[in-house]
Amino acid sequence: MSDWPEAEPATDPTLAVVGAGAMGGQIAYQAALHGYAVRLISRSDDRLRSASTSCASLLRRRVEKGKLDGDTCETALARVTLSSDFGAVAGAATIIESVAEDRAIKREVYARICEHADDTAIIGTNSSTLASSLLEQSVTRSERFLNVHFFNPALLMTLVEVVPGPHTAEDTILRAMDFARAIGKTPVRLAREEYGFIANRILFIAIQEAMRLVEGGYISVEECDLAVRNALGWPMGPFELSDLVGLDVVEAILDEGFRQTGDERWEPVGMLRDLVARGRLGNKSGGGFTTATA
Ligand code: 3HC
Repeated sequence: MSDWPEAEPATDPTLAVVGAGAMGGQIAYQAALHGYAVRLISRSDDRLRSASTSCASLLRRRVEKGKLDGDTCETALARVTLSSDFGAVAGAATIIESVAEDRAIKREVYARICEHADDTAIIGTNSSTLASSLLEQSVTRSERFLNVHFFNPALLMTLVEVVPGPHTAEDTILRAMDFARAIGKTPVRLAREEYGFIANRILFIAIQEAMRLVEGGYISVEECDLAVRNALGWPMGPFELSDLVGLDVVEAILDEGFRQTGDERWEPVGMLRDLVARGRLGNKSGGGFTTATA
């Protein structure tokens, strides 16, 4: 791509984020806020532009509200270099992959990352449904590969789950924990892989229970959200949260959970399937449980 500036040689700790969707973009800017020189890489110019525009506006709004110093904000924005060239991963100590939850796409992306990555770089996949042991054969140095799982919206949610596979070296785990802390997150280290890791395993089973209650006619969507917010202290009810995450994403996480574990608690309920089939994907498109149809 010709219209992005060339990456400058890094003087700060260097991160490459591959994938500029809702998660990848915010992870990149979060690290930039904490002093990292970041290369944000995507095959799609539109995704790169949209990630940089939306993160710039979120951070400038923080400045307007007096929550962030203007110079710090502009310095952080300038630390992110956009690129469609996988060569931009060269020189990065940490590489976070945050592309679509599709094994074939991820494998192709790892082949391209590994062509250019430094031998010492660690590669963290932000996948929520694919443990690194399902993908490690596509990575040249699998001892430097693991799951580093962020939450949406990544500029705000502080948890990062660090999940090693049997192939992951101890030093890689420690570096991933240090990286998460260095960009202002709170990492937790899992002892071993488990579908859904910690937070999603609890969250998505709970979301399914909420849907079953509504499907069973026990309560409305709005009142169920009200109940969960007030009784359990969730900042968003299960339906609002599903609309934020994307109903197609919720369905895919549940489907994959059922496929991988055979546990029926993961099998998506009918009302979710129906909404997704009708193109109602939540806030991002078509409306969802709590947002009007577009
Ligand atoms: N992206 C970035 N920033 C956002 C945002 C978004 N999608 N939505 C809101 N914000 C920002 C606002 O701009 C505002 O920032 P400011 O104070 O600097 O202006 C700040 O968040 C507060 O916004 P609001 O006052 O409008 O809303 P809340 O106080 O309700 O906070 C929230 C918003 C942090 C998103 C809060 O509602 C929340 O914590 N929700 C739960 C999110 C959650 O559970 N996420 C996990 C999802 S599961 C997941 O990610 C796993 C994956 O594998 C699918």
